[in-house]
Amino acid sequence: MTMNCIRLDEVDSTNNYLKQNRSGLPDGTLVTAGLQTAGKGRRGHEWLADRGMLPFSLLLRDPPHPDNITLCAAVAVCEELEERLPDEEFGIKWPNDIILRGHKLCGILCESVCFGSSIDVVCGIGVNISQSEDFFRNAEIPHGGSIEMLTGRTIPDREALAENIARRLYEYSREGFDAISNGYTRRCLTVGKSVRILENGTERTAFAEGIAPNGFLICSAEGGRFMVNSGEVSVRGLLDYV
Ligand code: BTN
Repeated sequence: MTMNCIRLDEVDSTNNYLKQNRSGLPDGTLVTAGLQTAGKGRRGHEWLADRGMLPFSLLLRDPPHPDNITLCAAVAVCEELEERLPDEEFGIKWPNDIILRGHKLCGILCESVCFGSSIDVVCGIGVNISQSEDFFRNAEIPHGGSIEMLTGRTIPDREALAENIARRLYEYSREGFDAISNGYTRRCLTVGKSVRILENGTERTAFAEGIAPNGFLICSAEGGRFMVNSGEVSVRGLLDYV
């Protein structure tokens, strides 16, 4: 598949760029940027970064399985990074934080735009490539880390990294979460742990049993079993971030 790639030096948010321009762009368009000035994180948070972070977004026009694209993206990121850094273990903190050596290495934000009975999905991915420890300290992101900071390895071809991840993601978005759910669950650091579930200002503790076919986190607590939907909550380990 030939990918339509747009390279920007600076933009407010690669997700915003695709949301604003999507109607003139083909399915599978990838936009990358050198710097994001108003990056967005999940649940309305800002996603602060310098040029050490690689931001990119993929436009999926009316995808056949729009529901679990963030989970597909998490697997796509891990696979590509594992190929480049085979000595490292990349894990997924449910639903879609990529973790290396206990630090958050990458965040994923999917946004959808409905038009008539169709839906376009913009999947935005931010990979921490080369920010320093000082960056994360000054930005007050204690759990954040970059590939360079954690492993000493540099990624010279950032555009190629984005393109390869986007290709994998495009393929998985066509196949659906079912096709990659084993790969997701195997890498998921949340499963098998006690977790704190933060929802609308309340917090409860539960045990994360597994991932449901629809991507929800299956949890159990005194009151029984229940499902957690990624859109609504933040899940943390009892003692640490993961
Ligand atoms: C999170 O973990 O909260 C999600 C962070 C997602 C950041 C990426 S960077 C590229 C794309 N553009 C944005 O504004 N956000 C996503």
